Amino acid sequence: MKVKVRGYRESDKAALVTLLEQLLDYQASVDDRKRLRRMPGFGESFARRMLRKVAKKNGRIFVAEAGSEVVGVVIGIVVEQTKEDRLEHIPARFGETLELVVRDGHRGKGIGTTLLRRMEAYFSQKKCNIVGIGLLAANSNAYHLYGSLGYEDRAHYMTKELPSTGHQDPDGGHRS
Ligand SMILES: CC(C)(COP(=O)(O)OP(=O)(O)OC[C@H]1O[C@@H](n2cnc3c(N)ncnc32)[C@H](O)[C@@H]1OP(=O)(O)O)[C@@H](O)C(=O)NCCC(=O)NCCS
Repeated sequence: MKVKVRGYRESDKAALVTLLEQLLDYQASVDDRKRLRRMPGFGESFARRMLRKVAKKNGRIFVAEAGSEVVGVVIGIVVEQTKEDRLEHIPARFGETLELVVRDGHRGKGIGTTLLRRMEAYFSQKKCNIVGIGLLAANSNAYHLYGSLGYEDRAHYMTKELPSTGHQDPDGGHRS
């Protein structure tokens, strides 16, 4: 089926929520530390946060449509350097892809590649000269995809589990 990429419309909100839920579910499934979970209300809340960020930071959301179904989404913002940033970085305009997800059942068919390329085209249009995307180290599929599109490791973020402090989860469970 032919896939069309277009800008996000308000009527895509329910599909956006579902896609963001599928994104977290996927990340939770590959998270070897099992620190992620999807609680009720996550999709709606995260979608609202994304829409706010995009509006504030000159961003864009593109969706992939197969027939009349929205099957993928990419969300990106333009990060302007502050005066403080320029004290330590060469002048640059950074395009940051915040989220990329393709609906389960439509993956591995080139849709994610098309969406990311569309976002890069937007960043170029906005005169960004560097782009980036973050991901869980355990997400080897996404890592492979971004590498094949020319992305390279720039930073490492390391975590370590400390012995339990008995911290109580306000939602009822025990957080480890
Ligand atoms: C990662 C993701 C957005 C890629 O979109 P996609 O449409 O499946 O990717 P494409 O078909 O354009 O590219 C395929 C490449 O992506 C990778 N890939 C990622 N997930 C895949 C899947 N479920 N099935 C097949 N390929 C997958 C493969 O490395 C593949 O490379 P190859 O063709 O050399 O084998 C999509 O698989 C997805 O939504 N995954 C779950 C959510 C997620 O991990 N999002 C990224 C968070 S940073």
